[in-house]
Amino acid sequence: MTDDAELARLAEGYRAFSEESAAEAPAYSALATAVSRDRDVLGFLADLPAGKRHPTLFLASLRFRGGVPADGAELHDRVAADAERLRSTMLSRATQTNEPARCAALLLALVEVGASAGLCLYPDRYRYSYDGRPVGPPSPVQLRCTTTGPVPVPAAVPEVVARIGVDLEPLDVTDAGDLAWLRALVWPGPVEAERLQRLDAAAAIAAQEPPVLLAGDLLDRLSDALALVPDGATPVVLHTAVLPYVGASRRADFVDRVRSLPVRWVAQEGAGMVPGTGRPYPGGWGPSFVLCLDGRPLAHTAPHGGRVDWFS
Ligand SMILES: C[S@@+](CC[C@H](N)C(=O)[O-])C[C@H]1O[C@@H](n2cnc3c(N)ncnc32)[C@H](O)[C@@H]1O
Repeated sequence: MTDDAELARLAEGYRAFSEESAAEAPAYSALATAVSRDRDVLGFLADLPAGKRHPTLFLASLRFRGGVPADGAELHDRVAADAERLRSTMLSRATQTNEPARCAALLLALVEVGASAGLCLYPDRYRYSYDGRPVGPPSPVQLRCTTTGPVPVPAAVPEVVARIGVDLEPLDVTDAGDLAWLRALVWPGPVEAERLQRLDAAAAIAAQEPPVLLAGDLLDRLSDALALVPDGATPVVLHTAVLPYVGASRRADFVDRVRSLPVRWVAQEGAGMVPGTGRPYPGGWGPSFVLCLDGRPLAHTAPHGGRVDWFS
């Protein structure tokens, strides 16, 4: 039996998600508010393991199974009628939203932990427009990014000599089911079509030149991944939108490990996920990510890409 305090915690997480998603995905925002008030649906979620209750996973699973519910009442009915299939999707799948637009804030990549299908391992294959100024090669993946603050935008993209990823469950963009799941993870709303076009175009690039993706935990497989970096290359460990999924003590171990290595370290994560980057939001996310180089906070960025606000 789930206690009231557990349901209240879940409801708070869904209310926080509702606020975060309001601008980009009004439909998800309304559904998350409805969930936060629906004791039956909260009960369904509370019966799932702790790491499987997040709004993005729940809403993508509903969508994957039968489209985005029109409102809270339809969501309630679908959970009641289809609980077992929904539960099975949520247990077998994970939130693996792979958003190439996050590269506009990175422009560096070699060894990515929490890589999903590896689409952030191709920053040199994408075309950027920083406040209208073009950077990078011609590409079907066009990333528009607004910036504020004192750091000038780069004149060119770096040369990437190895694309190595680690993920608990690497996705394969050439597998129709995996690609369908990646598409289902994109939030419905005003920028959905643009994000789907970008996902498909980036997936086509990755299919032509596949990354090396190692299956396993980021801490367990980091050494194996670094062992694949070619001689003479600068290893850059990068991660974006991953650390909220990692438990606090394991996260601290990972941070200690990366700090101890002779690598550059680029993190783009929710506040507080890297020490010294603010107070964590409920669920680990929040309205902005913090971009860090070697543990030093440099900028706030938009969680799905498109904005970099450099600190002065
Ligand atoms: C929200 S996705 C982000 C994907 C990609 N970094 C991006 O920004 O587009 C989070 C990814 O982290 C992976 N992940 C979560 N915990 C992990 C762990 N302990 N070790 C390795 N990967 C993990 C998930 O499987 C998922 O693919």
